[in-house]
Amino acid sequence: LFPDPGPWKVPPARKVTLNQPLGIEALPTQRFVKSKRTPYVLNVMVVGETGLGKTTFMNTLFNTDLVESIIPETPQSTKTVVISPKTYELVEDGVSLNLCVIDTPGFGDRLNRSTDLEPIIEYIDEQFQAYYDAERSAEFRRAIPDTRVHALLYFIPPTGHTLKELDILALQTLSAKVNVIPVIAKADTLTPEEKVSFKRSILGGLDAHNIKIYPSAYPDDREMIVELEKHIPFTVIGSDNFVNAAGKKVRGRSYRWGVVEVENVKHCDFIYLRELIMTSCLHELIDITHSHHYHNYRAGLLRRGGRPESILACDEQYEVRIENTKATLSEEMLRKEEEMRQTFVQKVREKEQSLRQREEQLNQRRQQLMAELEEQRRLIEAEEREMNDMLNANRSTRRK
Ligand code: GTP
Repeated sequence: LFPDPGPWKVPPARKVTLNQPLGIEALPTQRFVKSKRTPYVLNVMVVGETGLGKTTFMNTLFNTDLVESIIPETPQSTKTVVISPKTYELVEDGVSLNLCVIDTPGFGDRLNRSTDLEPIIEYIDEQFQAYYDAERSAEFRRAIPDTRVHALLYFIPPTGHTLKELDILALQTLSAKVNVIPVIAKADTLTPEEKVSFKRSILGGLDAHNIKIYPSAYPDDREMIVELEKHIPFTVIGSDNFVNAAGKKVRGRSYRWGVVEVENVKHCDFIYLRELIMTSCLHELIDITHSHHYHNYRAGLLRRGGRPESILACDEQYEVRIENTKATLSEEMLRKEEEMRQTFVQKVREKEQSLRQREEQLNQRRQQLMAELEEQRRLIEAEEREMNDMLNANRSTRRK
């Protein structure tokens, strides 16, 4: 009845010349000042076997001693692996970052290592669930505390061979839930040639098992990080100390044979990894956590609850319902048509029956009438014969 108006379009704006400046040019500054006031939140989980230098590396990455927790936390699980989140407030040039480092001591310590993943997955899901509950509660309409894991640094032991089975299983499981960034721990124990072949072997393993790691699994505007991506999986060296390298104090490790520098690209990929996490992709890590991983979690919840997870899914369900209704309607119509046909046949049969009865009655009546007529004809003929006889008798009497 009404023509489809098509998708709604923003009406074109008319250019207006301002007589006086309104202050529009200050809008980006407003946003900048506002975002500077609101502390950034970054939740980083570190997973890897005991003694691979996870704690040391986190201290190195954030260039501080992440020892004292500002907010006292209790371990989330005491099953096998102990999940221990610690929050720190880092401030630089007036911008603060609430950094939560979630350590997973005990991972890979037992014989049955696959069970070590359970408390980690449990923790990740608990944070998604907390966000989901907050989203649905009116109380948190404005700002939801975000404890979801934005990045997971997975420490691969520097064996120089291939990925271990536990690492493959862990990377597969974890990368389906969070942004996993694999790193090769204690890179100073590998020669440059070993690093190259180990990286190649790891990438082959990831590819063979279809493991989606950050950032390559999430293609977006990649121009900024094309160079950084070339160094995946990042080789890292951790150090809590400053050492003397060519007269300069640098973070590194000192050996009898020489010094390894954390921030030297010839020694490891620390600089690239730090640039990826802090300078280039912090926002994207948070965005992908929300738009991809959290969305998947929420969709899973809603699917289990039988409710559509998005408007698209809503549309799909609507289409399915329409199709079902159409199918039911056409079935109903076929059934009605058949019913009508049966009724019609029945009625025709009844009519035929009554007509046949009527015909029989008429036949009987006709035969009865014929018989009566025959009788009458017979009587009249007899009468006529009698009268003729009488007439003949009279004539013969008169002749005599
Ligand atoms: P858990 O907390 O027990 O799981 O260990 P972790 O993985 O946090 O290791 P941690 O940082 O405690 O370091 C373990 C040992 O490895 C320490 O003696 C560190 O000095 C040393 N270490 C850390 N990073 C490196 C590194 O890059 N190279 C070498 N050679 N040693 C390292």
